Amino acid sequence: MSAVSRATAIAHPNIALAKYWGKRADGHNLPAVPSLSVTLAGMATTTEVAFDPSLDRDELHLGGAALPPDAEATRRVAGLLDRVRAASGRRERARVVSRNDFPTAAGLASSASAFAALALAASAAAGLPTAPVLVSDLARKTSVSAARSAFGGFVELRAGRPGDASLAATPLAPADHWPLAVVIAVTREGPKDVGSSDGMRHTATTSPYFPAWVDAAPSMFEAVRAAVLARDFAALGAAAESSALCMHASSIAASPGLLYWTGATVEVIAAVRRLRAQGTPAFFTIDAGPHVKVFTTPEARGAVEQALLAVPGVLRTISAAPGGGAHLASAASPEGREGP
Ligand code: DP6
Repeated sequence: MSAVSRATAIAHPNIALAKYWGKRADGHNLPAVPSLSVTLAGMATTTEVAFDPSLDRDELHLGGAALPPDAEATRRVAGLLDRVRAASGRRERARVVSRNDFPTAAGLASSASAFAALALAASAAAGLPTAPVLVSDLARKTSVSAARSAFGGFVELRAGRPGDASLAATPLAPADHWPLAVVIAVTREGPKDVGSSDGMRHTATTSPYFPAWVDAAPSMFEAVRAAVLARDFAALGAAAESSALCMHASSIAASPGLLYWTGATVEVIAAVRRLRAQGTPAFFTIDAGPHVKVFTTPEARGAVEQALLAVPGVLRTISAAPGGGAHLASAASPEGREGP
């Protein structure tokens, strides 16, 4: 009887400065638009994958609790494991034990770090190569934003093209290229109403503004990319806010309208604009939830935190900064050798 082979990986969430929102219609989980993100230090997902011949189905344990086999998350995890089994020739089912050191239920970006960590741990446990480009493509096939968390620092992902069999993110600049500070204003505890996959599908199929978003996104991506390379904070803020607002405008115009914001979200936007008018460097971005992610400089972080905590409806803030990509914590083959 063969033994259990296991590996543990750590990955971090990323925040998109140029947003991905919408998939190509060919069913291969390819993004319709290019995106560019920053991988964050200060928040992490740790995932252990153990291929175990005694299991008769894949198991997912999240934050200490076992998820039902028919849960959406279990189904997505099993889909990624099926790809790993197909590529490696393994047949065993796996036990996946994952935990976040940030609140999973708060609707903060957790699928990116989750699927990047899973892709790396599962590849290592199955004895597949673990080059970041391969991990990125594997993660992208389940969750597009996860492709970017394979790498650290500033990371780009081009739009899919017809016939793409693989598509991985590419590192644009390391984390120390530009020591930005990130302050996340948490405006609600508890899970978001409509997940990203469902939200973008609903937007693509019902919003008259979705084609306009797909047309406009590449030029916003180029502006974000140029500003990152030039370390031009004002230009980055303008382009990143446009990308986020255009993405949300496309969803708000869906039928029925999909509005991820609460009153507190809008109040934080106003507070960021006030900070800027007073000379404090700050810009915002918003994902598929009511929280606002504010970028600033390390020097201004304290002032930004104070200003955001004073906004009615802001429950707390989380501090983060550009950080590294997914990496293995440990890996052991059945013979007990250390993995890559
Ligand atoms: C708003 O990557 O979660 O955070 O590919 O369906 O898993 P799926 O969607 P996901 O979407 C993230 C959308 C976003 C913007 C972004 O991260 O680029």
